[in-house]
Amino acid sequence: MIQKVLAVETSCDDTSVAIVDRSAKVIIQVSLTKDLDHAIFGGIVPEIASRNHTFALLPLIDEALKKSQLSWDDIDGLAVTNRPGLIGALIVGLVTVKSLALAKNKPMIGVNHLEGHLLAPFLCDDQYQPSFNFGTPYVALAISGGHTSLYYVQGLGNYKILGTTLDDAAGEAFDKFGKMLGLGFPGGVQVDQFAQSGDPKKFILPRSMIHDDTLNMSFSGLKSAAHRLIQELGVDEVQKNKSNLCASFQEAVVDVLLSKLEKAAFLYQVQNVVITGGVSANSRLRTRAEQLAKSKKWKLAIPPLRYCTDNAAMIGLVGLLRLANGESHQSDLGPSPKSWPQDFESP
Ligand code: KG4
Ligand code: ZN
Repeated sequence: MIQKVLAVETSCDDTSVAIVDRSAKVIIQVSLTKDLDHAIFGGIVPEIASRNHTFALLPLIDEALKKSQLSWDDIDGLAVTNRPGLIGALIVGLVTVKSLALAKNKPMIGVNHLEGHLLAPFLCDDQYQPSFNFGTPYVALAISGGHTSLYYVQGLGNYKILGTTLDDAAGEAFDKFGKMLGLGFPGGVQVDQFAQSGDPKKFILPRSMIHDDTLNMSFSGLKSAAHRLIQELGVDEVQKNKSNLCASFQEAVVDVLLSKLEKAAFLYQVQNVVITGGVSANSRLRTRAEQLAKSKKWKLAIPPLRYCTDNAAMIGLVGLLRLANGESHQSDLGPSPKSWPQDFESP
């Protein structure tokens, strides 16, 4: 009987370890985020991410066990993100978990990182409980630095991709725009902060594909328009209008994301809606999503930040559900930079 799973997430730059139990409770989660190591390069450097994982992972596993006062005897299985992600970063987590599974004689499962994001709202801990009565089917908007997609979720392993960005991910667009303004990395958080004192109507920026019939999105046109605007304004005006620029850019991204989410909920006739991934930390997006949910009578689930950004707890939950279902992988399991074809049904 699978009661507790130890999970490892190393698909990008965050190293995270969690122990999750059968009731989806996160017993412990310990993570290391080293944004500063990448900041001077203005983006994530895969080799640095991999090297940091090699230093951080085993100490974090020890820390998770120690802090939760559990031993290996209490752990019934291991879960690890093996797809999609940066290949070198994935290898560190996967090789470590495969070795531990062999050494400790535990079943192991490789988990799709995006499936983790989709199920994250069901995690719970002493401070967070998912909203009661929330269940499948639901429409999920997963928005991060690497992914921006809409899904229709009918149950474990039953995920249909409804639409996706055709170019930049929403978080990537935030980060690149932040870089244009000389804000630190990752830019999304800074843009959100500056935007709070800015006027979102000061500059009109494009909302690409907002009226098209599909649920696909695009953010590269917005990024180019923002770049042109910054050039035209010149250094002094940009400095004076930093907050207005951030608010206007942010409003354009939020308009596109929420309009596509609304369209998806309408087309699939669902009232249950999830927003997840690092960009769901955005304060304007949260406020406007809550207003929209109220007006549409949606049940809206946005996991707390610790389960929105990359984290091992969500991988633990997927691993636990799948191991409990009798699924597992052997030591020939490999990493993959992309999802497996069978992971998601295409539109
Ligand atoms: O899910 P995540 O931690 O990592 C992956 O990319 O998978 O998401 C990180 C992204 C970054 O692009 C970051 O700028 C963005 O989430 N982000 C935000 C905010 N907080 C994080 N974007 C806008 N507003 C925020 N408050
Ligand atoms: Zn992610």
